[in-house]
Amino acid sequence: MDFTDKVAVITGAASGVGKALSHRLAKAGAKIVLSDIEGGALDKAVAEINDGGGTAIGIVCDASKRDEVDALRDAAFAKWGKVHAVFNNAGVGGGGGPSIWTSPEKSFRWAMDVNFFGPLNGILSFLPRMFEQNEGGLMAATSSGAGIVFPPNSPAYSASKAALIALMEVLQYQLDMVQSDIKAAILFPGPHVVDTNLFGSHRNLQKDYDDPIIRAGGGIDDMETFQIVMKQFIGREVETTDPVDFAEEVYTSLLRDDFYILPLTDVTKDAVRKRTDDMLARRHPTVPQMF
Ligand SMILES: NC(=O)c1ccc[n+]([C@@H]2O[C@H](COP(=O)([O-])OP(=O)(O)OC[C@H]3O[C@@H](n4cnc5c(N)ncnc54)[C@H](O)[C@@H]3O)[C@@H](O)[C@H]2O)c1
Repeated sequence: MDFTDKVAVITGAASGVGKALSHRLAKAGAKIVLSDIEGGALDKAVAEINDGGGTAIGIVCDASKRDEVDALRDAAFAKWGKVHAVFNNAGVGGGGGPSIWTSPEKSFRWAMDVNFFGPLNGILSFLPRMFEQNEGGLMAATSSGAGIVFPPNSPAYSASKAALIALMEVLQYQLDMVQSDIKAAILFPGPHVVDTNLFGSHRNLQKDYDDPIIRAGGGIDDMETFQIVMKQFIGREVETTDPVDFAEEVYTSLLRDDFYILPLTDVTKDAVRKRTDDMLARRHPTVPQMF
């Protein structure tokens, strides 16, 4: 896909992967609609792009709310008349308890509403207008390796990201079946943990999901505390990936028309294979090694 003079909408663009992707696509000549639930951080992210010679606007939007995503779509079309690429990237950790049965139901609702219904809102809202526009384009969503193999401590997150993979794979078949020139893509940030603010997702917890367990974030608020915890559990810090490097990987993968944008390590490749082997052998699932 050539991004020159194209319009790209990116949710969750005030931080991390979405912000890095906004910069990369602006550098490629796209006009960017950055969107996020966090207004202050969004304003800064938009200013950075415009100050750097790019072209961007910012729209505050809770991606989990269909009416707000419709308003985002209307604002994008009102500004530039077209939308060629939508990156449904906004996501949250979910943050439950140590086990499913001690987790608040709200942690599952929050994860599903943002991580699954957010991208679904993007599809339902933007795709009909993109068909009408008849200029091809891209409908992308950000899932996670934790939606392919499931670490034991984040079931709400894993369930929401696994559901999103199913949605995006079926979307791609269906676009192929009608020979659409709009394509889908699914992003799996990596190959290592991407150094973003995801561990502090509860900073943007909407009041509908407010719960002390979710707010506590499992005692991990940022990458620094995550690394301290990892040192206690596995005796070392884990490797990280710079979001700028992942954004570059996304950009080059999109130029190749990749569907799965899935940088894995040997360890995570092995975990994917083990899951398939477990299924085919009908045995209990192996706890995946992620690092
Ligand atoms: N960091 C990683 O290693 C990693 C790994 C796999 C997947 N992901 C996924 O990448 C995506 C981006 O996350 P990130 O790592 O950059 O984290 P981040 O917290 O740095 O960025 C996420 C952005 O989404 C925004 N957001 C949260 N809830 C929202 C909502 N309801 N509506 C709109 N915006 C909302 C946040 O304000 C934030 O700006 C997420 O979908 C995440 O699940 C990240």
